Amino acid sequence: MRITKSFAETREVANGVVGLVPTMGFLHEGHLSLIEAARHESDTVVMSLFVNPLQFDRDEDLARYPRDLERDVALAAAAGADVVFAPDLGEMYPDEQLTRVNVAGLSDALEGPNRPGHFEGVATVVAKLFAGIQPHRSYFGRKDAQQLAVVRRMAHDLSMPTEVVGVPIVREADGLALSSRNIFLSEGEREAGLQLSRGLMQAADLVEAGERDAKAITNAVYFEIGDELSVEYVTLADQKTVSALTTLDRPAFLALAAWSGKTRLIDNVHFDADEDGFVGDRGIRLAGRSVLYRTGED
Ligand code: PAF
Repeated sequence: MRITKSFAETREVANGVVGLVPTMGFLHEGHLSLIEAARHESDTVVMSLFVNPLQFDRDEDLARYPRDLERDVALAAAAGADVVFAPDLGEMYPDEQLTRVNVAGLSDALEGPNRPGHFEGVATVVAKLFAGIQPHRSYFGRKDAQQLAVVRRMAHDLSMPTEVVGVPIVREADGLALSSRNIFLSEGEREAGLQLSRGLMQAADLVEAGERDAKAITNAVYFEIGDELSVEYVTLADQKTVSALTTLDRPAFLALAAWSGKTRLIDNVHFDADEDGFVGDRGIRLAGRSVLYRTGED
């Protein structure tokens, strides 16, 4: 396992088919499943670890983002990464970043209005990772459904020679979608947060029973959510364009964002077409407790 600090050094040690897993660290099983997917298909698996200031719209959120390089390197190595590329700010942004990547339209929906500049920050840093590391494939979680659509479209529009692979959500045993931010939830906030995945699972059942009306599908989620959560949106959106749908008639995802206390949670179910209709990707559930909560004594 190598830790690299510069793009040049990373390119030098990355041989054969290169799979890239971009992360901001504080790894959980969602990240580990990306590394494992990359491991199956690559000669060299590079995981990047960089908390990207460009994509944070609130300074407070950037300051409190959890960081632990030693922990992350150990987890990445155990999951099969060959290289952890952990650049400092000066390597990633040596000068004022005058060039920004904006994927018009796709960035403005869902998360867009609530997180101004977020997707421009994501697309810009991912474009730099693609240019600097030159991966054959790159792996992103379906948890960030809009991010996945934005990155796919950017790679397509800019003719970037990397295949963007989407990997299913990993959920805690009780259904809560894994996120590094889950460590901020109190017991009560976590309990309230479970209503989100319960609502999405209900909606997935409804779709698989034949429901196609977006209002009926989103209402199934709202019905499950109680008063403790402040919901920003529940929307059925086109997987490619992220535009809201009134009818489920193409590959889509049902996405939501809500606050539990001071923590913003997002979650979704993707619907992919098969010969019988639409199937909900409910993600993968952990059997036990996530590594997120592992302390030094465990
Ligand atoms: O999903 C994330 O962790 C980040 O948005 C990414 C893709 C690593 C870019 O900073």
